[in-house]
Amino acid sequence: MQKIEYRNIDKNQLKNIAINLQKKLSLGDKVYISGGLGAGKTQFIREFIHSAGYFDVVKSPSYSIVDIYEFNNKKIAHLDLFRLTTDSEFEDAGLDEYLTSKWLTLIEWPEMAKKILPKCEILINIKFSNDQTRRDLVIQNFIPKKLNLSSKL
Ligand SMILES: Nc1ncnc2c1ncn2[C@@H]1O[C@H](COP(=O)(O)OP(=O)(O)OP(=O)(O)O)[C@@H](O)[C@H]1O
Ligand SMILES: [Mg+2]
Repeated sequence: MQKIEYRNIDKNQLKNIAINLQKKLSLGDKVYISGGLGAGKTQFIREFIHSAGYFDVVKSPSYSIVDIYEFNNKKIAHLDLFRLTTDSEFEDAGLDEYLTSKWLTLIEWPEMAKKILPKCEILINIKFSNDQTRRDLVIQNFIPKKLNLSSKL
């Protein structure tokens, strides 16, 4: 496992990290993002999806649980499990589909379904830093042989 830590990053640095990660990932990769309310999980995913070439609005899928983006031969799924109450709800909603190699999937609040989610390729944790506009970010890369991330992301 490769672990990269960033301290006190502003919104623009977060954007650059999302852009660089996006360039390295492909269909079948799963990115789980944890962090408290308002930490910047959706913001990170928004920058990720925009950098893949999607220019419309990327909102938070809190109510729908999943939003999908299919464009330019890309298939990106954005899940937010905050409102998930039971594990069976995940399967009943057909969300298993987004854990297959057909999708590049990014999941907010993965801890809400930790018993049923498979291992991810990339795990990100975002925490508030010193002030409102800064964050600390830790990226764990579980496939370092395939995906050698640079700390300069
Ligand atoms: N350095 C930063 N990195 C990320 N977001 C930042 C930063 N500075 C300010 N922000 C702001 O913090 C907010 C983060 O909100 P966001 O919806 O991404 O949080 P979230 O982690 O998805 O929360 P939730 O758990 O409610 O889904 C955004 O309004 C964003 O503009
Ligand atoms: Mg969010």
